[in-house]
Amino acid sequence: MRRSLVIGNWKMNGTLASAQLLAKGIIAGLGSADADIAVCVPYIYLPAINELVKDTALGLGSQNIADKASGAYTGEISASMLKEFNTQYALVGHSERRSYYGDTNASVAARYVQAQEQGIIPVLCVGETLEQREQDQTFAVINEQLDAVINLAGIGSLSKAVIAYEPVWAIGTGKTATDEQAQEVHQYIRQYIAAKDQAIADKVQILYGGSAKPDNAKGLFAQPDIDGGLIGGASLEAESFLKIFQSVK
Ligand code: PGA
Repeated sequence: MRRSLVIGNWKMNGTLASAQLLAKGIIAGLGSADADIAVCVPYIYLPAINELVKDTALGLGSQNIADKASGAYTGEISASMLKEFNTQYALVGHSERRSYYGDTNASVAARYVQAQEQGIIPVLCVGETLEQREQDQTFAVINEQLDAVINLAGIGSLSKAVIAYEPVWAIGTGKTATDEQAQEVHQYIRQYIAAKDQAIADKVQILYGGSAKPDNAKGLFAQPDIDGGLIGGASLEAESFLKIFQSVK
């Protein structure tokens, strides 16, 4: 059985005070679930949130990570810097990074490698736009996104990574993939990996992201190939994020 995982992606929201309040609210409501939970916070709040999550079951992640180890890369944050603040997860290739900040499959793969070199678990985000879905390009797009990483880091690297399927048309739009639409792609991803390595495919956690909410999480998480969620908007309130977390298998 794969362990379930729910990750909140706070994106560029909040203030230091609201971030601390949110983290405290989540920690207070955690209980003793048999699943993992983490929040990906703005870089600048990592030190403060790290202080709060220490010795709790709430994990800490970043929303991006540099594609290089160190050097003259103004404005970037390296994996080793993230590691200093106990960052366990790093999102790589979120669709907002791909579409607004020019992240390419190649740079996403480089970020993935940087994360793993520091023992940080990359959360590789993949997914198609509405146009790509309408043109039946979903699987081809996902193949390319996965291949970039597999070709650079090897199939075995997925044993220390998480995949998040996030249909771009469902992110922040209120449109969720139906349980069946999501399961279809999750199953496809798992089979694609299984064709290369069955054991890794059986083990890798594949999260769903895209307008997951307390009222649709249970149905999504009940699908056999959905191992949890990457939650944007609904992770900004402790109550709704915890409700989603309590919906895991
Ligand atoms: P959303 O975002 O839940 O607000 O749609 C998901 C994500 O971007 O990770």
